[in-house]
Amino acid sequence: MSYILGVDIGTSGTKTVLFCEDGTPLASATYEYPLYTPHNGYAEQDPMDWWNASVNGITDVIRESGIPASEIKGIGLSGQMHGLVMLDAEGKVIRNSIIWCDQRTGKEVVEITEKVGRDRLVEITANPAITGFTAAKIMWIKNNEPRNYEKCKHILLPKDFIRYMLTGEFATEVSDASGMQLLDIPKRCWSDEVLEKLGIDKALLPKVYESPEITGQITKKVAELTGLCEGTPVVGGAGDNAAAAVGTGVVEDGTAFTTIGSSGVVFAHTSDISIDKKGRVHTFCCAVPGCWHVMGVTQSAGLSLKWFRDNLCWSEMETAINMGVDPYYLTDKAAMEVPIGANRLLYLPYLNGERTPHLDPNARGAFIGLSTMHKKKDMIRAVMEGVSYSLRDCVEVMREMNINVSDMMACGGGGSSPLWRQMLADLYSCPVKTTQNKEGPALGVALLAAVGTGIYSSVPEACHAVISADKVQNPIAENTAEYEKFYGFYKKLYPVLKDSFTDLSRL
Ligand code: XUL
Repeated sequence: MSYILGVDIGTSGTKTVLFCEDGTPLASATYEYPLYTPHNGYAEQDPMDWWNASVNGITDVIRESGIPASEIKGIGLSGQMHGLVMLDAEGKVIRNSIIWCDQRTGKEVVEITEKVGRDRLVEITANPAITGFTAAKIMWIKNNEPRNYEKCKHILLPKDFIRYMLTGEFATEVSDASGMQLLDIPKRCWSDEVLEKLGIDKALLPKVYESPEITGQITKKVAELTGLCEGTPVVGGAGDNAAAAVGTGVVEDGTAFTTIGSSGVVFAHTSDISIDKKGRVHTFCCAVPGCWHVMGVTQSAGLSLKWFRDNLCWSEMETAINMGVDPYYLTDKAAMEVPIGANRLLYLPYLNGERTPHLDPNARGAFIGLSTMHKKKDMIRAVMEGVSYSLRDCVEVMREMNINVSDMMACGGGGSSPLWRQMLADLYSCPVKTTQNKEGPALGVALLAAVGTGIYSSVPEACHAVISADKVQNPIAENTAEYEKFYGFYKKLYPVLKDSFTDLSRL
């Protein structure tokens, strides 16, 4: 039996899972770390926290599984996309990483659009300039921290920083590189034109691989630190969403998934490149060589419920500890007591601005319709529904683009809630399924490692061998009709609040 290792560098923590080659998880470890918000709209993390979490996780799973490290055939890395990691000439981290949900780059988005031209930018990078993407963060550093920019000799994405620490190689792969807005998405290589127009030296960027390709080997130092064998191959891996696609078997046309993690994503595989000219959904290279995906993003999905739980559900958190259950089990139970529409309470999940479909970094969260009759449980239900409406917005754009979203998998922390999955099935009017293996991105990149090291001959072959569907939730017609009324109302709210959000951001 061969073994494969997947490391997923997420926003709330890093999850490391050791799998048998047939996808059975043998051992898993998660280490959490803080997110820093020094100003409204800012979001930063310390790359060394990711590194310590990765080292601890790898060490734990090897120890816990009891298998000889020599039987680990390959390692795959997945991670939160778009984050900017800057290293100096000695390979040291220069400053905290500005991560995907940071919204400070409004001015740089205008600058990028002016320098490259909106249409040309969409032609090359398949997306209009977006605050969350790495290019805008690099421009922000150039404009606001020129000394740091001068010191910077290497620019990496979060998981690629971990690759550098594991192997000493400066490398990335097409799916994550797509989110930098410096990649020529149709050609799957860095765009000289965009780099030149933005004045970014290509030498700062890592080498680009396809996701299953081997990018380097574990160094002696890391072998001593973790218990891995020196020389173990590390494959390209994938950005967390492209990785989750492999981990849920979404690797062929007609398949799609919704993830409710910190962000929420609706992801559809496309073997032909398909671009929304309005830029409401992203088109990126996917982890299957030669294929792409279209992806709509809700900035604060699971993060909305986490924010509500952390700030307003202390008693539930305490009860959960006493009962030995997950606090989300209690929030789910509370929401189930409330009818569809949360007694006429709506929630807009725009805590950190919104991408699909509004592309508005200034948008902010809101409860609409609060009354003295509302209880915390109504608010919990409204939060879950508001996130689901926003995910339905993503599906609407894809349907407009003629992308079939009839086979929908669900994953991420929120995807494990039967209530949330039923909301999605009712709102999408299609069955929503889970997979038997719940390891999502970690499994996805472990499978990429299995492909890169020859255990399987292709990504679809690996998925067919390993992934199988578990629970299916079908849409309930009466629920759909009820949700439609509230979704219709939800859609009217952003347009009337848009100017107020802009004004508020200027106060
Ligand atoms: C995708 C995105 C998020 C992050 C964090 O564009 O910004 O999904 O990858 O998970």
